[in-house]
Amino acid sequence: MSKLPEITTERLLLRPWRRADRPHFAAVNADLRVVECLPGVLTREESDAFVDRIEAHFEKNGFGLWCVEAPGVAECLGFIGLSIPQFETHFTPCVEIGWRLGSQYWGQGYAPEGARAAMEFGFRTLGLHEIVSFTVPHNTRSRRVMEKIGMTRDEAGDFEHPRLAPGHPLRSHVLYRCRNPDGKAV
Ligand SMILES: CC(C)(COP(=O)(O)OP(=O)(O)OC[C@H]1O[C@@H](n2cnc3c(N)ncnc32)[C@H](O)[C@@H]1OP(=O)(O)O)[C@@H](O)C(=O)NCCC(=O)NCCS
Repeated sequence: MSKLPEITTERLLLRPWRRADRPHFAAVNADLRVVECLPGVLTREESDAFVDRIEAHFEKNGFGLWCVEAPGVAECLGFIGLSIPQFETHFTPCVEIGWRLGSQYWGQGYAPEGARAAMEFGFRTLGLHEIVSFTVPHNTRSRRVMEKIGMTRDEAGDFEHPRLAPGHPLRSHVLYRCRNPDGKAV
């Protein structure tokens, strides 16, 4: 695969992963505040395996969940990016936009800043006609990011996450969508 894409924003660099990012990302995944609306903390091994899957996604698709660097602040805040969900439900196949940042970096608008740029990459460079995002109803922080970047809740799109067992407290999800403003059906 040719050089993997990077995105620069006013304060952030969304870039491919380096070996040195792994301990920082493991700390993000071990942070109880970060995983409050996720299935649970990850061990170092699980976190590294996650990065392996992210890198394989980049190799296969030419895009993925970028490592977020804030030059002069920190080399690895977490991830922001685009990915293809591997489960099947009423809105798949699709491209999802997602984010996960260390809690010490929250509240400074980093996620919407990086996500806007990732979304523009998806629409302008990849030519996607739609990008979705989803989370549990009580993840107000993530829902705020979806709203700030111009996504709209699909009221009829609520779904039960097929990777979680019936009755799991995180199984119910809300769905947000954003259409390519250029309107090209690709
Ligand atoms: C979702 C997330 C990426 C937001 O990143 P961010 O850079 O803090 O985004 P923002 O600065 O725009 O803040 C978004 C909202 O988070 C909340 N928030 C901000 N700072 C906060 C803090 N220090 N503590 C708790 N909540 C905070 C606010 O509700 C804010 O919305 P507002 O600006 O309307 O008040 C971050 O909270 C995160 O990594 N969460 C854990 C992982 C996760 O849930 N990912 C999504 C899974 S679907």
